[in-house]
Amino acid sequence: MTKSELLTTPIEHYDITQHNVVPIVEAMSKMAFSARDLARAAEITDMMVRDRSCGIILCLAGSLISAGLKKVFVDMIRCNMVDAIVSTGANIVDQDFFEALGFKHYIGEEKLRSGMFDAELRELMIDRIYDTLIDEEELRVCDDVMREITDSLEPRPYSSREFIREMGAYLQEKGSKTSDSIVYEAYKSGVPIFVPAFSDCSAGFGLVAHLHSRGDGPKVAIDSGKDFYELTRLKIQNPTTGLFMIGGGVPKNFAQDIVVAADILGHEADMHKYAIQITVADSRDGALSGSTLKEASSWGKVDLAYEQMVYSEATLAVPLIVGYAYHKGNWKNRPSRNWNNILDAVPVG
Ligand SMILES: NC(=O)c1ccc[n+]([C@@H]2O[C@H](COP(=O)([O-])OP(=O)(O)OC[C@H]3O[C@@H](n4cnc5c(N)ncnc54)[C@H](O)[C@@H]3O)[C@@H](O)[C@H]2O)c1
Repeated sequence: MTKSELLTTPIEHYDITQHNVVPIVEAMSKMAFSARDLARAAEITDMMVRDRSCGIILCLAGSLISAGLKKVFVDMIRCNMVDAIVSTGANIVDQDFFEALGFKHYIGEEKLRSGMFDAELRELMIDRIYDTLIDEEELRVCDDVMREITDSLEPRPYSSREFIREMGAYLQEKGSKTSDSIVYEAYKSGVPIFVPAFSDCSAGFGLVAHLHSRGDGPKVAIDSGKDFYELTRLKIQNPTTGLFMIGGGVPKNFAQDIVVAADILGHEADMHKYAIQITVADSRDGALSGSTLKEASSWGKVDLAYEQMVYSEATLAVPLIVGYAYHKGNWKNRPSRNWNNILDAVPVG
């Protein structure tokens, strides 16, 4: 196995605009079990889009971009089906921004899944995500660009949103190497992207190098408290909200908690009116990722009327649910909220 033989077939991103799944989802609504859950989630997603008072927050965990879902989220931004994104760093930096720099994710042969060839992959500097391969040398370039961006900024604390917008500005200046990038599309549309655990990805390597080189001098810092405050301010300004959550983890809790944070700031905030979660986690361990949305309602975070858990791996469920809402067409004439403008209007101290 040579490196170039292994990295030959790129992952292709699913295009919701090319496949009208409405009849499939409608047929599933007359079935039982997960099919009916999925169809209900699709209907609630369409309701969120129809409800013009509702601000929609997309939450991303797992390895969704490397798996071929990138264009789904880019199209959601383009069609004003999402107003803010809360994500893990892997999706936004290591995967989306990485592809915008001109790199790709590759389909790994079936036999590689066994793990028996991981030592050989290590020798070749190839990273494996289940059945997907990445060139580690290209990831190092991404780390370097993250350091370059960090070094270019005025030394002060930044929310991850502010930093990610600088990544969008970098793509604007240098040119995105792909026509579909979440970071770039969000930059152009004023959609804020929050990555509360920002250093837990390629961004962390850039930040570590920046901090090390600056010694005792002034440095860039990432302020996750500022992230939380900014997202809470959006909730206060736009009381009706809906969550579209994929996976769980930090993004799920962070976005849910803004209801409580708004309350703490003296604003009687409504619970999230709509909530969808697509996950393979279950609730037995008592952890956040698999906790049900009904459980979240006991914490005052999610309303009970329009919530739906979908127990499915995301690459199966997301094309159907988002594709349904896309082909229903109710996003047409839904205005862009440009929430970055709101956050810029009152600088956070
Ligand atoms: N995933 C990666 O390849 C990767 C790479 C670099 C850094 N990281 C960092 O690790 C941290 C945690 O990452 P994570 O979100 O990948 O893992 P995670 O294990 O914390 O995932 C969170 C939850 O989402 C569920 N989930 C994940 N993928 C799913 C899918 N495809 N379908 C349905 N449910 C799914 C999981 O079951 C879990 O309950 C983040 O800070 C991230 O930036 C991850």
